[in-house]
Amino acid sequence: MKISIISVWVGLLPVTALLFSLLLAAPPALEAANPPARPSIQRVEQTDFGKTSDGTAIKLFTLRNAHGMVAKVMTFGAILTELQVPDRNGSAANVVLGFDNLDRYLKGNPAFGITVGRFANRIAKARFTLDGREYLLAANSGSHHIHGGRKGFDKVVWSGEALPPLNHQSAVQFSYTSPDGEEGYPGTLRVKVTYTLTDDNELRIDYTAATDKPTPINLTNHSYFNLAGSGDVLNHELWLNADRYTPADNDLIPTGEIASVKGTPLDFTKPTAIGARIEQLKPRPGGYDHNFVLNHSGRSLALSARVLEPKSGRVMEMSTTEPGVQLFTANFLNGSIVGTGSVAYPQHGGFCLETQHFPDSVNHPNFPSAILRPGQTFNSTTVFKFSTQ
Ligand code: BGC
Repeated sequence: MKISIISVWVGLLPVTALLFSLLLAAPPALEAANPPARPSIQRVEQTDFGKTSDGTAIKLFTLRNAHGMVAKVMTFGAILTELQVPDRNGSAANVVLGFDNLDRYLKGNPAFGITVGRFANRIAKARFTLDGREYLLAANSGSHHIHGGRKGFDKVVWSGEALPPLNHQSAVQFSYTSPDGEEGYPGTLRVKVTYTLTDDNELRIDYTAATDKPTPINLTNHSYFNLAGSGDVLNHELWLNADRYTPADNDLIPTGEIASVKGTPLDFTKPTAIGARIEQLKPRPGGYDHNFVLNHSGRSLALSARVLEPKSGRVMEMSTTEPGVQLFTANFLNGSIVGTGSVAYPQHGGFCLETQHFPDSVNHPNFPSAILRPGQTFNSTTVFKFSTQ
């Protein structure tokens, strides 16, 4: 397997380390004049991750930070395949569901780690009207459209490049041009997704896009997290900064109402185990699969969720610029899928926090608009920050 180290910092490590120890041994006056350079271990590695059926080579990027976190992202679907996070004893585990080989992703991926687009979640009856014209989309969930259609952004090959290393962070940027009419959507859409791993233990995902015709857009990441690294997530304690949600019908299409979570199993305004009330959501929708209306308004990054896994002590905080989040608890997994590290994924083996504009918002004028027009730039950011307690 071909490995090319992108970051020059790695090559400079021995020199930096020598300089560092010389400076440490130097008298205080010298130290003050020449503060020791902090040796940086940040780097991005690029490896070959196999080929698609038409022979396109897929690249995998491995990002590392100074505290033992490792994130792996690939050009197929701009997918996050792995995320290693230390527990309270410093022992790392993979906290996202995924596979360690491309073939398994190509055979049918239940949305593990994918970048979702052009429109995350559902569009009712696979149609919408924009500026007086009706558009028909690919129907890939019964009569409805979900996650961008049959060949959404998760099934296309993106171009990917490591960004020049900065102090205390490393980043990879993926670009994709979605042609006019793709899956029924209007306009050529140029999209960029940037994954950044910082020394503050944050995995930051920035999305930008521009279009040449008005189009709906709703981008998200569909990682299934499991802060224990295996088993189910029913003991994970979740706090969600959401007093309201968007009720939906049996097909999970919003009714258009915005309702209070009070007195329902959706009230996570106080930290509560994911499994505490999940049985009340069976048989339909089979667990959590709901869009929450986040309490922040406007477009600034706001702390929106906190999850604690009590045994490992791992904590994940999610901040986003988006107005909503879909909490999904892997309701259909049943142990038959075996992923990275030979871990079998049981029902509720992960939880997703899919930051988003509300499902079907193109058909609900009372929901925040998800329309991008020529001349505008689409911006969206979500940060997953890890710590232990
Ligand atoms: C949806 C689920 C769906 C899953 C995988 C989630 O965003 O809300 O209903 O099963 O994605 O596509």
